[in-house]
Amino acid sequence: MKEAEPKAIHLKDYEPPTHRIETTDLTFDLESGTTTVTSRLKVVRASASTEDVPLVLDGQELKLVSVAIDGVELGSNEYQLNDDTLTLPDLPPTCEVQIVNQIHPEDNTALEGLYKSRTMYCTQCEAQGFRKITYYQDRPDVLSVFTTTIIADASEYPVLLSNGNLRSDELLDDGRRKVVWADPFPKPSYLFALVAGDLALLSDEFTTCSGRNVTLEIYSESHNIEQCHYAMDVLKRSMRWDEETFGREYDLDIFMIVAVEDFNMGAMENKGLNVFNTSCVLATRDTATDQAYQRVEAVVAHEYFHNWSGNRVTCRDWFQLSLKEGFTVFRDAEFSSDMNSRTVKRIEDVNRLRSVQFAEDSGPLAHPVRPDSYIEISNFYTPTVYEKGAEVVRMLQTIVGQDDFRRGSDLYFERHDGQAVTTDDFCNAMSAVTPRNLDQFQRWYEQAGTPQLTVDSTCTAEEGLIVNIAQACPATPGQTEKLPFHIPICIGLLDDAGNSLIGAETALQSDSDIEIRQDTLVLHLRSQATNLTVSGISGTPHVSFLRGFSAPVKVNYPRDSAELAFLALHDTDGFAAWDVLQTLLVREIERLQAASTVSPVVIDLFDALIRRALDCAELDTDSRNEQRFLLAAMLTIPDENYLFEQLSPVDVDGVCNARDSLRQTLATQLQTQWQSLYTTNTAGEPYSPDASGMSRRGLNNIALDYLSLALDGTALSEQLRSHYDDADNLTDRRAVLVATVNSKNLDPAFKDRLLAEFYDRWREEALVVNLWFSAQASARDCTAEKLSRLAEHPAFDLRNPNKVRAVYTAFANFNHRNFHAPDGSGYELMGDMVITMNNQNPQMAAALAKPLTRWRRYQGQRQQLLQKVLKRIAACEDLSTDVYEVVNKSLS
Ligand code: BES
Ligand code: ZN
Repeated sequence: MKEAEPKAIHLKDYEPPTHRIETTDLTFDLESGTTTVTSRLKVVRASASTEDVPLVLDGQELKLVSVAIDGVELGSNEYQLNDDTLTLPDLPPTCEVQIVNQIHPEDNTALEGLYKSRTMYCTQCEAQGFRKITYYQDRPDVLSVFTTTIIADASEYPVLLSNGNLRSDELLDDGRRKVVWADPFPKPSYLFALVAGDLALLSDEFTTCSGRNVTLEIYSESHNIEQCHYAMDVLKRSMRWDEETFGREYDLDIFMIVAVEDFNMGAMENKGLNVFNTSCVLATRDTATDQAYQRVEAVVAHEYFHNWSGNRVTCRDWFQLSLKEGFTVFRDAEFSSDMNSRTVKRIEDVNRLRSVQFAEDSGPLAHPVRPDSYIEISNFYTPTVYEKGAEVVRMLQTIVGQDDFRRGSDLYFERHDGQAVTTDDFCNAMSAVTPRNLDQFQRWYEQAGTPQLTVDSTCTAEEGLIVNIAQACPATPGQTEKLPFHIPICIGLLDDAGNSLIGAETALQSDSDIEIRQDTLVLHLRSQATNLTVSGISGTPHVSFLRGFSAPVKVNYPRDSAELAFLALHDTDGFAAWDVLQTLLVREIERLQAASTVSPVVIDLFDALIRRALDCAELDTDSRNEQRFLLAAMLTIPDENYLFEQLSPVDVDGVCNARDSLRQTLATQLQTQWQSLYTTNTAGEPYSPDASGMSRRGLNNIALDYLSLALDGTALSEQLRSHYDDADNLTDRRAVLVATVNSKNLDPAFKDRLLAEFYDRWREEALVVNLWFSAQASARDCTAEKLSRLAEHPAFDLRNPNKVRAVYTAFANFNHRNFHAPDGSGYELMGDMVITMNNQNPQMAAALAKPLTRWRRYQGQRQQLLQKVLKRIAACEDLSTDVYEVVNKSLS
């Protein structure tokens, strides 16, 4: 909490550290109430020119006990201590600094630094949590070799873990245990971790490509340990994949994961000791949906991949965050693509990018992939740094090609192993292996905002196909003028039967670079406008534009519905087929805000897609699963967040009603088809989280969703009841729960009974209860008032971030009718929660404030109502830097 106005930190002010810390020797004495930390640092002045510069250590909420230099304790006049720093002047060029301080993990509700989650101690240090543990140069470019000693009661905390390899373990005379962990790899403080608790263990092993044996351990509270097998399987697959795909071998003798119930984020890549939110590691058929399994797969892989992209090669400063996060999201997306359906993974990622990242990029919190200033770094773990950052890496791969991309990545890891580097260093490594010039490409790191492409095409017998493409990027906060981007655009051309028209005879002409890769053209758009002429083709080709989403841009390419419907059914690039369908559906929903009947083109298209799904049975297994996944994605109407972003400024009620009426029409008009789809995809065998099972459940539950709109009375309750009773997994049970709470055609008693039954059966499983909370929080009849009552349920707990997300984040992000209630009740409720959380957990508070910040995109009264709440928050005393930054940026 800050007294004065929080100050922004700028990239341009970066200064290298004045001192190095060669070794860091920590001792934790864990005693109930107070933990004593003793830190011995071998400090070396960075260069002769820093002779007179004092050593400034970061430290927050610490109680200093003593400071000694080379064994001599300092008097209190020999150092300066304030709220955020400890300054030690006049140090010799090399010395040992010993600091003793105390902390209170039991009182730490911010879940940053060392804290207690139920019975276990754990840490979260990224980005700046280490300064809440001890005084240190808490910045990522200070790399040190850590040794950690932990002393704790042997019976209460039998498991004592830290980074690296276990060096010793002894029982002390007083009934306490002392362990020593040594991590040979120099690392910044944000990768430090400590865990102490009475934990159960699942262990396994892995033999690396060079033949070394690595012990794999997953720890959790004992009642959850049987839910850790899937994560262990993923871990082994990730380790193998990173060897095969990126040539990266694991380096320590042991790799550990700990599952923690109270955690602000998904998971954290601490060296050799990853700490996970239980929601991202536990998975069994009864406690995780198919979606949750895929999340576990992605997160376990992501954190493991950081061992190279983040830990061995780390960030120079926090402005470079995308260096590790964007690259690692790219890597985990490639892993998931190789494990499951590449096309559908791409669809899911683009769906999310458009709903969340494009929204950020067009709002008051827009910032470049490499921000140039921040007030609170915790606010910059954003969709832009992560997902757009991953898109930037993907474009680099598209531009240089897969082979050179791998060579560039090898060079990057080799050149910078053990260093703290910048996004420029990453691009330079890529530049070194490619003949292409990547200078202009750098703008993707510097300029915020989503570029908009305007496209038109004509085709004549004389000239062939002419495609004109223009780019523009809207102004964003602090950046009014934008320079053109280097945008790789993948294009396919199809004949009327859907066959590719690109071949050896294709003659291309363009004012920019263009190349042919198999059946796709890759055009390098560099200037504001480009044209492309394709001759030597017969007939008028159908243009498959931005295949695979080759760049994170918006496209305005006016084409009639018949053309879009043709491409949706015939494009051989599954992503592009899905993409034109989204364009068609968004346009239809926009039209339905003023019209009342759904276009026959859309109904016919859905009819054709369902028929195709029914015909899947004839395909071989792999293409059948792939086809089912793709069709499930295509038969899902884009959600409100996606629509709001595409249809800004937003008429909330208009969009929600139009979307509902489209779904209702498709449900009733195609009722028999949905029924067949349902029946054909009813499980014939026990649950398995594999492609066959998941893709089948995908279609089966989509059909159930439409049927729940078409049916009513006993027909509906019987269908839902039997689906629920037949279910042997959470995916199917959740589908019934969601359909039930949202149905307008059910007896309220049926709803209440199902909710009660579900809760009673699964009340011991926190993650299942959270799903029960979020189904209700996002239900169409859940008003702000009802939500407050839901939060009074005994299973709700404000100190647990997963529960807060299950109730409040679900409401603000997925219950648009009630969050945006015209009387402002939804906004006020979220405002209250931001204020409550501000004192308790600032990171959570800032996350909860984000849905309130987009007031400019809504119409009429809602703008005033939102601003009123934001001003109420801004006026609070003791505002954390986290909330201060989010609220003030959105008001200015
Ligand atoms: N390094 C982050 C965890 C983190 C985030 C720490 C923010 C401190 C502040 C970790 O690697 C991460 O990115 N986790 C993601 C999941 C991942 C699959 C994108 C998360 O926690 O959501
Ligand atoms: Zn990460």
